[in-house]
This record gives sequence, C-alpha cells and structure tokens, in this order.
Amino acid sequence: MSAMFLRTFLFLFLLHREVADSCGGNDAFTFNGFRCRKIVPDGIASITSNGLLVVTNNTFESKGHAFYPTPLRFRDSPNGTVFSFSTTFVFAFISELADLGGDGMAFLVSPTKDFSGAIGNQYLGLFNSSNLGNPTNHVLAIELDTIPNPEFHDIDDNHVGININDMKSDELHTAGYYLNDTGSFENLSLSSGQTMQVWVDYDSHAMRLDVTLASIPMAKPHRPLLSAVVNLSSVLLETMYVGFSSSTGPWLTSHYVLGWSFKMNGVAQALDPSLMPSLPRAKSNHKLKVLRIGLPLASAGFAVIIAGIIVSIVRWRIKYAEVLEDWELEYGPHRFSCRDLFIATKGFNDKELVGIGGFGKVYKGVLQTSKSEIAVKRVSHESRQGMREFIAEIVSIGRLRHRNLVQLLGYCRRKGELLLVYDYMPNGSLDKFLYDQEKPTLDWATRFRIIKGVASGLLYLHEDWEQVVIHRDIKASNVLLDHELNGRLGDFGLARLYDHGTDPHTTHIVGTMGYLAPEFVRTGKATTITDVFAFGIFLLEVACGKRPVDSIASGEKLILLDWVVENWWQESILATRDPRLGEEYVVEEMELVLKLGLLCSHPLPAGRPSMRQVVEYLEGEAALPELSPTYLSFSVPAMLHNEGFDDYIMSYPSSVATSSAISEGR
Ligand SMILES: *[C@@H]1O[C@H](CO)[C@@H](O)[C@H](O)[C@H]1NC(C)=O
Ligand SMILES: *[C@@H]1O[C@H](CO)[C@@H](O)[C@H](O)[C@H]1NC(C)=O
Ligand SMILES: *[C@@H]1O[C@H](CO)[C@@H](O)[C@H](O)[C@H]1NC(C)=O
Ligand SMILES: *[C@@H]1O[C@H](CO)[C@@H](O)[C@H](O)[C@H]1NC(C)=O
Ligand SMILES: *[C@@H]1O[C@H](CO)[C@@H](O)[C@H](O)[C@H]1NC(C)=O
Ligand SMILES: *[C@@H]1O[C@H](CO)[C@@H](O)[C@H](O)[C@H]1NC(C)=O
Repeated sequence: MSAMFLRTFLFLFLLHREVADSCGGNDAFTFNGFRCRKIVPDGIASITSNGLLVVTNNTFESKGHAFYPTPLRFRDSPNGTVFSFSTTFVFAFISELADLGGDGMAFLVSPTKDFSGAIGNQYLGLFNSSNLGNPTNHVLAIELDTIPNPEFHDIDDNHVGININDMKSDELHTAGYYLNDTGSFENLSLSSGQTMQVWVDYDSHAMRLDVTLASIPMAKPHRPLLSAVVNLSSVLLETMYVGFSSSTGPWLTSHYVLGWSFKMNGVAQALDPSLMPSLPRAKSNHKLKVLRIGLPLASAGFAVIIAGIIVSIVRWRIKYAEVLEDWELEYGPHRFSCRDLFIATKGFNDKELVGIGGFGKVYKGVLQTSKSEIAVKRVSHESRQGMREFIAEIVSIGRLRHRNLVQLLGYCRRKGELLLVYDYMPNGSLDKFLYDQEKPTLDWATRFRIIKGVASGLLYLHEDWEQVVIHRDIKASNVLLDHELNGRLGDFGLARLYDHGTDPHTTHIVGTMGYLAPEFVRTGKATTITDVFAFGIFLLEVACGKRPVDSIASGEKLILLDWVVENWWQESILATRDPRLGEEYVVEEMELVLKLGLLCSHPLPAGRPSMRQVVEYLEGEAALPELSPTYLSFSVPAMLHNEGFDDYIMSYPSSVATSSAISEGR
C-alpha cells in the first residue's frame, strides 16, 4: 500500500518539478521560503503554494526527501582537502499530538539523490538494514530525532545527532541550547511545533563540526549544542548533494523546512524568518483524530497493532503533554494553556527573562488574546504527591485580592513543571532599588509606604485569611514594585511546594540565609513568628540600604542585625540609616523602623510582636515598646563583647549556630 502511495506522489511531484531559477548559485544559496521551487522534492515531500517545504506531511509510515538540484563541489579534486562549509535552516515539526511526533528529520550530504531503497521510520529515510554503517554510503547526516531507538543507542525521544554512514550517532545530545550568559543548558522540544533553527558549521582546518540549535526568534547561541572533531575526508566525495530526509512512523507528524541557506568556504547567509511562509495552524482534538484516521486505514490484521499504538499514544500523551487531572476542572478559570504561555513568553525566550528566584525563572509575557502583561514563573517539580493540595492552596490564595500581594492569575501544569502566572510588576523588585547603583534612590516616604504595604500584605496572609499562610521567604528581592512603586509581596505559598515534595535537599533550605530565625535554623519549622523575624531583617535592609550580610572592605562581612544592635546600644542607631537618603527622612519614622526591625528580629520567638502589632506600630496606633536590655544579653554582640557569655551559652545554646548560619549568608 505504502509503495503505491509513494509512487503516486513521486509521479505527482515529478510533474511539479519546475526549474524556475531565480535563487541559488553554485556554492552558496539562500531560501527564505521555497517559492522559487528550486528544491527538488521526492517521496512524499512537496512544496506548498506559499513556499513551505513539506518533507513529510501528516501521513503514517512514510518518508520524504528534498535536495538542492545540482551537486556541490566539496573538494577540488578527489583527494583534495575537504572545504569548510556552513549551512542553516529553519524547521518545525507539527504533530497531531502535542509534543509527540516522529520519527524525525535530517539534514544530509550525500553522493546521490536516490533514496528509494532506504527505509523510513527509525532509519529516517537515510539507510536500510543492509547498508547501515557502510563506509561506501558517504552520507553525513545531522539528525533531529524524536523517537528513541535503543538499537541505535539513542538517548531519548528528543535529540540531535551527528551521523556518519549510520543511524548510530557519532555525537548526540538532547535538543536544546546553552545560554550565552550562564552557560546553562535549556531543553527544547523538537516535537513542540515551535519553529526552530539549526546551524551546521564545518571548519575543515580544525576538522570541527559544530551543530547549534535555537528556537525562533533567538539569536544563534554562542556555544554549539554539538561540537565534534570529524575527519570528513573519507566521507565527502568531490561533489555531493545537500538536502533533507525525514520519515514518519505511527504518529501523524509533518516535518517542515521554512528556510535554508548554504555556503561553501564561508558563513551561510543569515535567514530572515519574516520572509518565510507561515505554518498551517495546528489542529485540535487530537485523540479523536487519531481514531478517525487510524481506524479506517487499518485492515483487520492491523487493527490490533493500531489499538496497541493508540494505547501507547495515550500513555505517552499522559506522560508528555500538559497535565490536567479531573480534580483540576473546578479550577477552570485558573488553568492557562501551556501553549498560550509559551507563545506569550515567545517560547520562554531569554530576552523575556525578568528574574531568577529560588523557585525558578520568571519570564515576562504578553497574552495574545487579552494583550495583558503577565509574569510567568517556571517551577520545576517532579513530585505529583501533594500536588493537589498545593494547587488547591495556590489557587485559593490566587482568588484573594490584596493590593500588597502580587496577584496570582493562574497556572498550567506540565510533566515535572509548574507554570505560575502572575500580574506583571513593571518596576521589578525592591532589592534592585536598594543595591543597584544604576537605579534611582528611593526616597524615605516611598520606603516607608513600601514597608507599611508589605506589613499589611503579610498580616493578611497570617491572620486575615481562612488559612494561615506562612510566607517563609520574606526579603527585599521578593518585594515587587507596581507602577506606582507600591510594595507587593511575591512568592507567597510557594515554599509549601517543598513540604509536599520528596526532595529532602530542598525541604530544609527554604528561606534565605541572613533572614532565618534562630529557632528555624535549629528545628527547621517555619511559623508566622519566623516570618516576623525575616520581616525585621527586611526593615533593617530598607532603612539601612544594606544586605543582611554585607561585604565590607578587606573582605569582611557585616552582619546587619549585629551592627544595628551595637549602634542601638551605643545610642547611635540613626547612624545606621542608608547614607543615600542624606538628611531627607523623618527622624521618628526612621527610629521606629530600625527599632521595630530589632524587635521583630528578637533572638527569642516570644520577644517578637505579631504582624497585627507590627501594623499597629507602623500606623502609629500603638506605641512601640522599648527594647529591653535583656535583648542585648541574648544577641550576638554580647557574645562578641564577652559579656554574660556563660549565661548566654547556658540559656540559649543554639545561638552559636545562629550566628554562624547568618554569617554564611548574604
Ligand atoms: C499529504 O500531501 C498530499 C499531497 O500534497 C495530500 O494529498 C494529502 O492530503 C496530504 N496529507 C495530509 C494529511 O495533509
Ligand atoms: C586518491 O585516492 C585514491 C583512493 O583513496 C587513490 O587510489 C589514488 O591513488 C589517490 N590519488 C592521488 C593522486 O593521490
Ligand atoms: C538498501 O539501500 C541501498 C542503497 O539505497 C540499495 O542499493 C539496496 O538495494 C537496499 N537494500 C534493500 C534490501 O532494500
Ligand atoms: C531536559 O530533557 C532531559 C531529557 O529528556 C530531562 O532529563 C531533563 O529533565 C530536561 N530538563 C528540563 C529542565 O526540562
Ligand atoms: C549569543 O552570543 C552570540 C555570539 O557571541 C551572539 O551572536 C548572540 O546574539 C548571543 N545570543 C543572545 C541570545 O544573546
Ligand atoms: C583524515 O582522513 C584521511 C583519510 O582517511 C587521512 O588520509 C588523513 O590523514 C586524515 N587526517 C587527519 C588529520 O587525521
């Protein structure tokens, strides 16, 4: 059956072969779309009227090829040195099932355009079982493989490989790219439907073959995905064809090439995605479609196999696609489609990255439908256990409206990953204003307003909601500023994720060094009172313009709390204020904030006020109690000054641990 199909298509496409020659040359060509039809399709491949090269269209178990029509000279003589070359192409794999397609596509350099003897499926239309691995193939292929084949030592269902005469790759890596700045690796899903670009660069002098992958519209990453030393002199003949090969298996997948450029002995001309044809829109209602197309195709004998395939498709779908369980249906309005978030953030593009927090990266995005600005936090999370409770909590917090909390709009869940959608805060986080010399100094009135705002947001979490929500990570970098520079507390409730989680390493380090209450360090148990401790440190941070543990000259560390306590003891507490404020501040308010900071960060939990009291002190509705001199005897400077040292150790042994824990942080 499939052979007949192939022949029919081959015939049709031969008829279509026009030799309109308006683009391309002998050793360099650039196609932003293939409207000029210079590329020769073969097998099931075709070029659409808008110039899209379809190497395989949505058909089961087929293969397609497309070649530049004339062979290119890769060396001057049969034994001459192989030339350097460079090529880049833009492609997209669109499958009926989100993130699940196959088998894949390859860019190839080959002595022939005739691949009629090759097998599709896992052979990607490149080889068959008899010529596999044969040096006389003279085939160099860069495979984009979306099916794991153990026989070829594939590592996963989403990898890029350098293949020479064989389906076993000489070099392979999970699809993705390395970030320019941090060098960390980011996955890309080849089957996502996302438009991506590949660069293949061969330096014949160094015999280095680099393969780089990125999603459109990213710039070419600095570090290639694959970089291998390969001697191509026994592979490449004097003249070779260049093109693409792809195959499908039991999954309905289309493999598209949108643009392609090539240059011998030079750098391939950059492609312009804006000139490329657009992709057909992805279809919805995937599962039904498979059934409808799948079953009529299947003869009786096939039915069993097809049924098996469907079962595995459904299983794979559960594994890879967006995760939605029945209990989540009630959160309908809070569910976002991961695809929409992907589009909103331009594919989680680095350019949209607005922050990296303890829980994950935050991207700015614009929702296509409403055009509203959002911030999307990607939290990786492996455990399904407790996810239900966690989502319930996150969503119910998200139902709350408080002007000093960053509004949670909703979420989307994928395997191993939770995407949380928040209101976008145009002014970023408070720590930038406190420590970044580029940012303008915040005046005291603004700082005082931010402090009062954060206090009221935290009071709301602690006392005014049906459930007590412990924040656990209060600090300047978790306070975001809206367009009017009001402070809004972000990341609330997130720490709970790790309560439910299974990762023992993260369970006890939620929170940030320098903000951790002594009893928390000792017991690992977070309470509203440990939040108050961190809030106290936050007050000192805002008033003094210093980090909780700050580096001072000569590489020493300044522990903010100890320093303010010492100054308070020496009756010079105002001297600790942020020098950037100059004389522009209200003495009473400054004193209130500094002393309240000390009170909140009292070494003994019982010595700390509740958030309701804190708000009363800040609003002037109650007078701040004087700090008792015993405070000092419990605090770290007392130990440093060697006063009451023995008492201190006896009454509060673990504070030694506290002081060391604090000085570890920053
Ligand atoms: C694949 O391409 C052929 C020829 O262009 C077309 O007749 C067929 O409908 C396409 N199949 C799908 C599923 O789009
Ligand atoms: C070129 O290589 C072929 C086979 O590798 C060899 O038989 C031939 O002698 C070589 N020619 C020259 C000029 O080196
Ligand atoms: C395998 O492929 C080669 C090259 O295309 C071809 O000559 C050969 O006939 C094929 N073998 C089989 C068994 O199809
Ligand atoms: C990237 O993909 C690999 C292989 O599929 C997987 O093990 C890893 O967890 C993924 N990383 C991220 C951050 O998704
Ligand atoms: C990464 O670095 C390369 C080369 O240094 C540069 O061309 C490219 O624009 C950078 N990419 C991004 C996303 O900054
Ligand atoms: C590359 O391979 C060719 C042919 O196998 C060999 O003659 C040559 O010495 C190799 N070059 C290097 C640098 O190893």
